Amino acid sequence: MRRSSDDTVRFVSSNRHKYDEALPVLRGLGVRVEYERASLQEIQSDELAIIARAKARDAYGRLGRPVIVEDDGLFIEALGGFPGAYSSYALRTIGIAGILRLLDGSGDRRATFSAAIAYDDGSESRAFEASVRGVISEVSRGEKSWGYDPVFVPDGQDKTFAEMGPDQKIGASHRTGALKAFAKWYAG
Ligand code: IMP
Repeated sequence: MRRSSDDTVRFVSSNRHKYDEALPVLRGLGVRVEYERASLQEIQSDELAIIARAKARDAYGRLGRPVIVEDDGLFIEALGGFPGAYSSYALRTIGIAGILRLLDGSGDRRATFSAAIAYDDGSESRAFEASVRGVISEVSRGEKSWGYDPVFVPDGQDKTFAEMGPDQKIGASHRTGALKAFAKWYAG
């Protein structure tokens, strides 16, 4: 049990989608959470947990209150794990079209979507990780979506994240596993 004095943890991110998907999970596990919009300093590392912990330290430094932040990565087998910790950069530069082009003709479309949730309250710094295995679809599928949702199909499903309803996406996502591990530690 690591509840803060005001019993609310701030989810700090510039990406509201992450919070929208985290809120029902955390609420359901008894964690009170509020959104705080901020672009955090991101260090370079191949490890999501290291990046997430550094971002959480930066967020705590700005807010002076207990925070959680998230760092994600899509690790594509045939590309040696690329874009991994550089997934946000890859999306901004080559985009989904570029990723699909890199996989053109590849028989191996396996990928892992990973999430690291880091907590920082000024004295304690922790990271919680989870992953979901899946494949990269041949083409982009799904309308309302964000990030890599239109091309990631989790194992055991035939829909991309973007083709799923919000509950199904949340139930299947990398984010949810990491949030559950955090909540188990935080809320006991
Ligand atoms: P970030 O560095 O933590 O922001 O995440 C790396 C990249 O993965 C970003 O481009 C995010 O938009 C993307 N991403 C993270 N989680 C998801 C998700 O659940 N669906 C789609 N894209 C995601």
